[in-house]
Amino acid sequence: MDQIQKWLQQYPRLAVVGGYWGDEGKGRVVDMASEFYDCVVRYSGGANAGHTVIVDGIRFAFHLLPSGFARSKTCVIGPGVLFNLASALAEVEENKPKLTGPVPDVLVDGRCPLWTPYHELFESYLEQLRSTTKQEIGTTGKAQGPLRAVHDLREGVIVAHLLRPAVLLTELERLYTMLEPCFEQMNAIPPAPKAVQRELMDLYNRFRLVARIADTRAFLLNAILADKRRVLFEGSQATGLSVDAGTWPYTTSSSVTVGGIASGTLLPPRALSGSVLVFKLFPTRVGAGPMPSEFGDRDELSGFAKDHPEFFCHTDTYNAVTRMQYQEQLLLAYNLKQITKRDLGRYLLIRQQEIGVTTGRARSPGMPDLAWARYAISVNDPMACVLNCLDAGSGMDLIPVVTGYEHNGKQLLPAAVPTNDLSNVKVNVEYWPGWREDIRGCTQWEDLPHGAREFVKRFEKHTSRPVMVIGTGPSRTDVIVRNRSQCSVTTLFD
Ligand code: IMP
Repeated sequence: MDQIQKWLQQYPRLAVVGGYWGDEGKGRVVDMASEFYDCVVRYSGGANAGHTVIVDGIRFAFHLLPSGFARSKTCVIGPGVLFNLASALAEVEENKPKLTGPVPDVLVDGRCPLWTPYHELFESYLEQLRSTTKQEIGTTGKAQGPLRAVHDLREGVIVAHLLRPAVLLTELERLYTMLEPCFEQMNAIPPAPKAVQRELMDLYNRFRLVARIADTRAFLLNAILADKRRVLFEGSQATGLSVDAGTWPYTTSSSVTVGGIASGTLLPPRALSGSVLVFKLFPTRVGAGPMPSEFGDRDELSGFAKDHPEFFCHTDTYNAVTRMQYQEQLLLAYNLKQITKRDLGRYLLIRQQEIGVTTGRARSPGMPDLAWARYAISVNDPMACVLNCLDAGSGMDLIPVVTGYEHNGKQLLPAAVPTNDLSNVKVNVEYWPGWREDIRGCTQWEDLPHGAREFVKRFEKHTSRPVMVIGTGPSRTDVIVRNRSQCSVTTLFD
């Protein structure tokens, strides 16, 4: 911990952002870091995120609230967040009794677009429409697209409207009228604007007891400049899902990269003093959209997960022995080079228990993708990286790694491939030596086997960023925090 504290000391305003396609374990990094910050800020996404944090053995699940809530840190929801009042209220009410510290302040910006059932219906309408040409995005169903788009049309409602119920009603009525043709086509009967207004006001009357609507920009500026408070910016989703930098249209509808922090908080870009980009050894993807290094077929893998609940510990029929035996059988076949890509995907799905917190969907794994990692680094310019789930590689004699993309017969950087054409990419694969030893729970760099250390050093050389933190297991303490002398490349501005 001393190590991380010393390192974080130099970044009073730090961002933690995902590098691949989400679920890289940002929640744990934010949780680890939040101990040394006063406020934790969400600037993007909405209730579609899923961050699990375990504090003193107690499990907290967050979707919309900054995960600093678990450590009683001031929680700020900036104007870039697509806000769902019912979700936020449920999260505060569910997580409050679990706190060991005081109940923290929760501030929500008045400018946040506000969820209504109309947005959700509109999302179903759009997904239905896309399904006719087999182009569904496979969203989380949290209406992120409609919330962002309606707001960008300068329609819909915002959080501040909760302070003026009559204005709220007028805006709801126009939104209803605007979307009515879609509801008719769907044969849907949405609640009337008056009923939605009543429902939102009831929720707000409960919400105001635990949180407040604020000008979070002014709050943060004052906290930073006058009170010298330390601020942590918690990214949602990841670079590959960012509406601008990601694999559009198969993205979420926020700018979730470091670049999105300025617009999502209204703080000037110079306010940020550093950022870390979080990767995990084997990237995963849920929903639709390309991930060039993916092992198998996503739908097939989801079907497999549904048909075999005995392999997944969140189910009633989970059986640890059956799971172990199956895993060992697949690992043996892998090392004997007698495995299909499909089975390697299954192995990692089970080994890493890759099932989503928000949706319960299976996440499909792929090879470590250095081509994408370099692109994500160039977009976010982090001081350092985190490499989570390194333990997933234990037991593999060789680890396949993507070092480049080929598109239309040419070697290309991911940035040069149109994002909607990434599914036509051929990946260049190298096999790097792995390690046999189980490294789960390892906390010291020197205790890692030679193969694991060499792997990390190679990852650093290919990405030109130091890997300051390595995740070696699911628990909060399963991490290695390296010092600068242990890294093979130095941070840019230290
Ligand atoms: P939306 O954000 O619900 O609109 O979904 C758009 C795409 O982003 C879908 O493919 C989702 O599966 C994906 N997505 C959204 N949030 C997350 C997340 O927290 N982790 C991983 N994928 C996500």
